[in-house]
Amino acid sequence: MAHQSVYIARTLTETAMATLDRSDHELRIGSEAPPSREELLSQSRGAAGVVVTLSERIDAEFFDAAGPNLKIVANVAVGFDNIDVNEAKRRGVIVTNTPGVLDEATADHTFAMILNLCRRVSEADHFVRSGTPWVWGPRMLVGLDISAGATLGIIGFGRIGKAVARRAEAFNMRVIAFEAQRTPGDVDGTVSFVGFEDILTQSDVISLHLPLLPSTRHIIDAAVLARMKPTAYLINAARGGVVDEAALIAALNSGTIRGAAIDTFENEPFVNPALLDTDNLLLTPHIASAGDRTRDRMCLLALKNVDEVLAGREPVTQVVLR
Ligand code: DGY
Repeated sequence: MAHQSVYIARTLTETAMATLDRSDHELRIGSEAPPSREELLSQSRGAAGVVVTLSERIDAEFFDAAGPNLKIVANVAVGFDNIDVNEAKRRGVIVTNTPGVLDEATADHTFAMILNLCRRVSEADHFVRSGTPWVWGPRMLVGLDISAGATLGIIGFGRIGKAVARRAEAFNMRVIAFEAQRTPGDVDGTVSFVGFEDILTQSDVISLHLPLLPSTRHIIDAAVLARMKPTAYLINAARGGVVDEAALIAALNSGTIRGAAIDTFENEPFVNPALLDTDNLLLTPHIASAGDRTRDRMCLLALKNVDEVLAGREPVTQVVLR
């Protein structure tokens, strides 16, 4: 059978790249930086498989440019809000993502943000480096006592939300969760499901673990922030668009909530300069899944999905819209 052409839009991890030496496909490989729109469209032309990351927008224009040979778009991410899956379906193109391989790494980073923010680790680091004279004091850089039974509210109780809950339990936190499919009063181990209002009013820390969909865009807006405890913290390692960023900045500046940590941005990779001037805010550049083995597994899974589909088999992790 003739070689089929595959465009890999970004350089993958070393381990994943090494496997390409044995590839049966005719490969076009981009660079570490995201391709420009023009490059994405021209390099995809005629490809049977395309491997992309969340920085590439896959829409009708892309499918027009790629042409009728295209069988699969493999996203190196579990989130797929960068891809118009309905349009892909209409054209008979399979879309795959990378669920299951990044839950623990994402939960690790979420928990790192919780501990850092609530115990003011980065703030303390900046303080020491500033050279400000200091001496131990009972009120110095005091934060939330996580292990004294603080309540963690998890919004979105899928695989990643559950992995965060396991870490919280080990830290003696009380864990409550909101999940649209679960009835308040349901339990999952030591986690109790509550209604949306209760999660806002009872949580000391709220962590978001839900996909970005039309129904979840700005699920955290000014009105929601105003219903949280003034002493509460918000953590977002999901997608920037689930939080109204302008409302978050206003809430932090007015003391509506105590602090926030965000790994994702509303108009990524653009970072609203007002975020940089906001205190009590911890920022990381969308690195929640950036564990070395995890990134290998994400890249290898995306390549495997392409191999399977181009060999006429079922992909391992196809995105299926409900
Ligand atoms: C994802 O997989 O959706 C993350 O945001 C990137 O790892």
